[in-house]
Amino acid sequence: MFITFEGVEGCGKTTIINMIYEKLKSMNFDVIHVREPGGVKISEQIRNIILDKSNTEIDDRCEALLFAASRRQLLVEKIFPALKENKIVICDRFVDSSLAYQGGGKRLGIENVLNINLFATENSLPNLTILFDIDPELGLKRIAKNSEREINRLDLQKIDFYNRVRDAYLYLADTNKDRYQIIDASKSIEEVYSTTLEIILNKLNENK
Ligand code: TYD
Repeated sequence: MFITFEGVEGCGKTTIINMIYEKLKSMNFDVIHVREPGGVKISEQIRNIILDKSNTEIDDRCEALLFAASRRQLLVEKIFPALKENKIVICDRFVDSSLAYQGGGKRLGIENVLNINLFATENSLPNLTILFDIDPELGLKRIAKNSEREINRLDLQKIDFYNRVRDAYLYLADTNKDRYQIIDASKSIEEVYSTTLEIILNKLNENK
């Protein structure tokens, strides 16, 4: 069972994933938790190229290809072997992040980005993708609040980009109903957590 978690910045994804991981472990499920680049050496090296602030000339398609390449190595080294051993793999961001951020946010087109990612993953997509949906402005306000600062002009400039990311996620959820579940992430952590857990346990039951 391959479960991925998606959403824009400030949606609370990472907090909820940690809670879910601990809960599944306490219920004696054989579960691993990965987040790209997942501690895999080559994926980390690729990721450093993407995140290096001095690489200002990085081209959008080059960035999309690098994300896909980094993902590929993580799949081969960690995710495929765990799935083969029938473990539950929970992954913080996966292909859908590229579809939403590079496809939607950077306007490369969801189909184009999907094509390179299907090559990278040998057409394997998650069994379940949980989208923590939130208005990007609220997400950015949460982040600003956590770092005890006001929302600034740069944050506001980013809103357009994140609105495109969110729209792409909602489009993906709508067109991939078999694997997508949307959760309203503007609710409290407790509510989001219990809804997420219920969805996952139902899915695990279905697959028994
Ligand atoms: P990440 O470190 O996972 O941050 P977060 O805590 O928000 O999940 O991701 C860093 C940034 O990289 C984030 O803005 C999303 C972006 N990203 C892409 O643009 N494409 C991708 O394929 C992935 C995996 C992440």
